[in-house]
Amino acid sequence: MRIHERRSMLALCATAASVLLVWQWAVPAADGQSNPAAGPAASAAPTKAVCVVHPLGDAKVGGNVTFTQVADGVAIMAELTGLTPGKHGFHVHEFGDCSMMDGTCAGGHFNPEGTPHGGPESQQRHVGDFGNLVADRSGKATYQRVDGKIALSGPHSIIGRSIIVHADPDDLTSQPTGNAGARIGCGVIGIADPKMQH
Ligand code: CU
Ligand code: ZN
Repeated sequence: MRIHERRSMLALCATAASVLLVWQWAVPAADGQSNPAAGPAASAAPTKAVCVVHPLGDAKVGGNVTFTQVADGVAIMAELTGLTPGKHGFHVHEFGDCSMMDGTCAGGHFNPEGTPHGGPESQQRHVGDFGNLVADRSGKATYQRVDGKIALSGPHSIIGRSIIVHADPDDLTSQPTGNAGARIGCGVIGIADPKMQH
């Protein structure tokens, strides 16, 4: 008996919820506009993304990387500080997970095509292969390139993945990582407001 009562209550709740849903879909908002969350702005492909890089372990690296859709690809702009002088491997990794202090959860290089590791200008490369940051004597590195392989939507989209900065140079040839050593910086790539100036 009790079970039957509970079942009918559940059925009632479900029915009431769906009636409410139908009502919300059918009745326009008070201002006559349709639900803004379903409007064109929400469904349009992102045109800008941003990644705030945080240090891993005892590293000191930090900074921002921005990605802006341009005619021939995606413009990458990075400004990082706290590096040791010289080259540091710089990649998009598969997962947007910086939760482990050694960066392990970010997975391997973002490689949706299953191609070998290379440099940013190589014929064959991982989509995530950006080559190296080059830090000056003060530990500051800037990086500026237009990349034709990464995208902000579709199968090559880097949104929700991560940027990893490495302790050592990427030699652009060793498989599958360029022998770039430990992961010293990590950040998740998110959709940015195109109106923001970074
Ligand atoms: Cu990497
Ligand atoms: Zn790679």
